Amino acid sequence: MLSSRFRDSDLTAANLGMSYELLLYSVSDRIATITVNRPDKLNALSAALIGELGTAIDAAVADPSVGGVILTGAGRAFVAGADISELAGQTPMGAVTRARRGQEIFGRFERSPKPTIAAVNGFALGGGCELAMACHLRIASEFAKFGQPEVKLGIIPGYGGTQRLPRLVGTGRALQLLMTAEVIDATEAYRIGLVNKVVPGTDLLPTATAMLTAMMANGPLAVRACIDAVVRGQDMSLGDALAYEAAHFGTLSSTADMAEGMQAFLEKRAPGFSGA
Ligand code: COA
Repeated sequence: MLSSRFRDSDLTAANLGMSYELLLYSVSDRIATITVNRPDKLNALSAALIGELGTAIDAAVADPSVGGVILTGAGRAFVAGADISELAGQTPMGAVTRARRGQEIFGRFERSPKPTIAAVNGFALGGGCELAMACHLRIASEFAKFGQPEVKLGIIPGYGGTQRLPRLVGTGRALQLLMTAEVIDATEAYRIGLVNKVVPGTDLLPTATAMLTAMMANGPLAVRACIDAVVRGQDMSLGDALAYEAAHFGTLSSTADMAEGMQAFLEKRAPGFSGA
């Protein structure tokens, strides 16, 4: 039984007894920051690191004191891809299992009911670009570099890159990046719609924080419904997705948040959402 002195804000990963070796996890001002922390290997995604990412996003989603998530990297890389030293010896069935596990764990960032922002500080190559694309938004430092160079290794992306990249930038541009293995800078990534914003390196985390803070001031159930309608809607026919949107629209009309949001507008004051 939790003691009465136990507060929601104590439900950090550390307090839940989780320990991380390959990433840092902290909560401040309702934002969980997950920092991939294997800088000597440019944050290459080992199987163990992917497991820790799954634990961290689960902790953030479960923690009622967290309203949103920033994912970033330590050092000069966001993530320079899957750990090639692990891929080198993989068997065909082992590779399928690796891809399916990575896809499922990356999918948790996309399915998170709380907004997830990738703050891309440097190289986002291969699995790093795929991880950034699994987040709801991407903010890039001017030093960031993006690419899917897997074909240079004789493989293709296995953590969702062939599916999320064309959804973000269109089929032609996605195939260009996938088949040439070209690495692009942040300006080009912005131009093609791969990132939402490019900022000076020192502004990266402040910009991601400001954007999340703005989202967290809105009705949390409505923000959650935006994520769900967009993410699930992509797997539906347009007709089904429109019906799904309408169902969310209807459900939100039963919430205290809708009553509060509209009342606050009519009374010309800021809303105080309860998430109910
Ligand atoms: N897997 C395993 N190790 C990696 C890695 C990866 N994806 N990316 C970088 N590293 C390691 C390097 O092996 C090196 O380790 P070492 O110091 O023990 O030799 C360390 O990280 C630093 O990388 P290095 O290549 O020396 O840095 P660089 O500045 O010369 O080049 C990159 C940077 C990103 C261009 C280069 O590391 C690279 O091409 N990485 C692989 C990118 C890739 O193909 N990703 C898709 C994988 S499916």
